[in-house]
Amino acid sequence: MSVGAVPKTIEWIGGLEGHVVMIDQTRLPSELVMLECRDVQTMWHAIRQLSVRGAPAIGIAAAMGAVLGVRDCGGLDRDGFLKKLEEVCEYLASSRPTAVNLRWALDRLRRRASVYTSPRDSRVPRLTPGHDPTEIKQALFEEAKRIRDEDEAMCRAIGRFGEPLIRPGSGVLTHCNAGGLATACWGTALAPLYAAHGLGRSFHVFAGETRPLLQGSRLTAWELQQAGIGVTLLCDSMVGSLMKSGRVDLVITGADRIAANGDTANKIGTYAIAVLAKAHGIPFYIAAPSSTFDLATPDGSRIPIEERDPDEIRRGFGPLTAPPDVKCYCPAFDVTPAKLIRGIITERGIIQPVTKSRIASILREWPILPRNRAAKLKSCTPSLGE
Ligand code: MRU
Repeated sequence: MSVGAVPKTIEWIGGLEGHVVMIDQTRLPSELVMLECRDVQTMWHAIRQLSVRGAPAIGIAAAMGAVLGVRDCGGLDRDGFLKKLEEVCEYLASSRPTAVNLRWALDRLRRRASVYTSPRDSRVPRLTPGHDPTEIKQALFEEAKRIRDEDEAMCRAIGRFGEPLIRPGSGVLTHCNAGGLATACWGTALAPLYAAHGLGRSFHVFAGETRPLLQGSRLTAWELQQAGIGVTLLCDSMVGSLMKSGRVDLVITGADRIAANGDTANKIGTYAIAVLAKAHGIPFYIAAPSSTFDLATPDGSRIPIEERDPDEIRRGFGPLTAPPDVKCYCPAFDVTPAKLIRGIITERGIIQPVTKSRIASILREWPILPRNRAAKLKSCTPSLGE
């Protein structure tokens, strides 16, 4: 995200010897504070404690964290380096289990490194087992930056495909934060809103506060206000009543993992919203880049759901709001079945209807985002009138 005076959500400063700077999202909205990560442990904790959060952003963070984890390991030959990379990737993958973007980004780095052991491209030198791994380090650094740049392009494309869904004067409900703070740019669910806003269209956003960690109120409401987009905050329990009042025309949320059949894991509470949307005849859309699809997971029942500390419910932001020893139910995500999802807005177009074959064909048709699109990016601003 880079809206007006708001800095980028996450970026690498300098060359391979540099460091990562991110907005510390645990401090918003009361303070806009930057967090510096110079080693992999700091990055692990930043992901775990949600200083950086949102599926695409933690993919970027993990990729940059892996570079931090291997760049200082001197004295290793090729095989020692690859072993270290594997350890670092597994360590980072343990930070949060649900968003597949995290593993997707780490797998990309692994694949990039493996090019040097069995190159298919004659321009890439084959590094023998005892070879110095400096070249691999540099390649991983470039790959991590590319993942970030491509994420900007994906957000923009999702914005363009989703923008026609935002009718003039409509009310759009979103949940959690799937905006610029969750990605390198405009976000996923919020990208169509930024796009429509950039075209001068007027509409209104309703943001559910998203208990227990309040990403909707702390982050989405703040982010939309920074961009000058009208937003009304509501408690999660008010969604049914709001829908019944006729003020919601469309729901768009993000996703943390989309199974092969379209079942979608997203922030806890999303499933209830989808059921309510169905009951009120309101179209429910998911917005997500292709890096959020996990075709190896056949359906939602196989998606690992993160359980978080019960104190996030009992005393989320300081004072106790429950008996200190009361048992809590605390999944961080839930799964919305594909049959409740009208369409999935991706950087390749809208997948509609949401079926296994439709998903497979869209992902197959465009296996990777063309590199030249990422290279042509301009800086990310909320104006799409280009
Ligand atoms: O626990 P969080 O804040 O990382 O959860 C984030 C969400 O559920 C988002 O909706 C999802 O990651 C999509 S972000 C573009």
